[in-house]
Amino acid sequence: MSVPAPVTARVPAKINLHLGVGPRRPDGFHDLQTVFQAVSVYDEVTASPAPGLSVVMKGPGAEEVACDSTNLAVRAAQLLADLTGVDPTARLGIDKQIPVAGGMGGGSADAAATLLACDSFWGTQLTRSTMLELAAKLGSDVPFLLQGGTALGTGRGEVLTPVLVRGSFHWVLALAERGLPTPEVYETLDELRGADAAATPPDAVLAALAAGAPEQLGAALHNDMEPAALKLRPALRATLDAGLQLGALGGIVSGSGPTCAFLARSRSAAIQLAAALTAESVCKTTRVAEGPVVGARVL
Ligand code: C5P
Repeated sequence: MSVPAPVTARVPAKINLHLGVGPRRPDGFHDLQTVFQAVSVYDEVTASPAPGLSVVMKGPGAEEVACDSTNLAVRAAQLLADLTGVDPTARLGIDKQIPVAGGMGGGSADAAATLLACDSFWGTQLTRSTMLELAAKLGSDVPFLLQGGTALGTGRGEVLTPVLVRGSFHWVLALAERGLPTPEVYETLDELRGADAAATPPDAVLAALAAGAPEQLGAALHNDMEPAALKLRPALRATLDAGLQLGALGGIVSGSGPTCAFLARSRSAAIQLAAALTAESVCKTTRVAEGPVVGARVL
């Protein structure tokens, strides 16, 4: 039997241009009204021949991620193998550029890329709709990271509706020294405002995207989780203030944080803002990114 050739899939990070968090549901998740955008910071997952199923990670923060059976990429491969009956043998090599526990969907991105890479590596030929179903089982952000672009996410984030967007947007991402665990941020939010608060609706962000108006979008960016992320990491206040003082059109904590996302008028404005934020020592490092970009793809 011939040995299959390695397959690499590339997957973007996400930011939430709007994150409206509704009540906590009986299953423990919160109802969301969120606007996702895929941005040009990428992880790559390569499936290659190996006797068992294993994962090896490299890149900033990779040492903080468990590489055992709890790893979301391993769970994605196992779920695909269980459904299709293939022998789950592959070495999953993950090159991480998406910040770990950064509120940019890094773990979910690896699950999305693993589904695609293993589907091609094992020749299981899943339909798009089955792949999206598996994605939703793995995590609330995984379907969006397969899809990419810009989308409205409802349910727990897994029900996607495409959003009309004119043009593309330039982002500066301010990365923090340490990550924040998502469940803890949701728990803190429930403590701060009660578990049955209503989600802020996304209308202002949707209107700005349809108009392709960066100034309007900057003013409309909103995250219901921000008070909880700020409570757990008060230093993020200085990061947000610095970005706005340095001329960002708007700035928010991305998802559950601690990464902050700032909107700039142009690519050159984004590069300048990134350099100025680094000089202010209000974050560990910065990245410049564009969005929207396509979702996970086999290279
Ligand atoms: O779906 P995912 O595995 O990414 O979620 C991680 C955690 O974030 C959940 O266990 C839950 O605590 C919280 N969460 C939530 N409501 C959502 C999405 C995530 O409470 N809609």
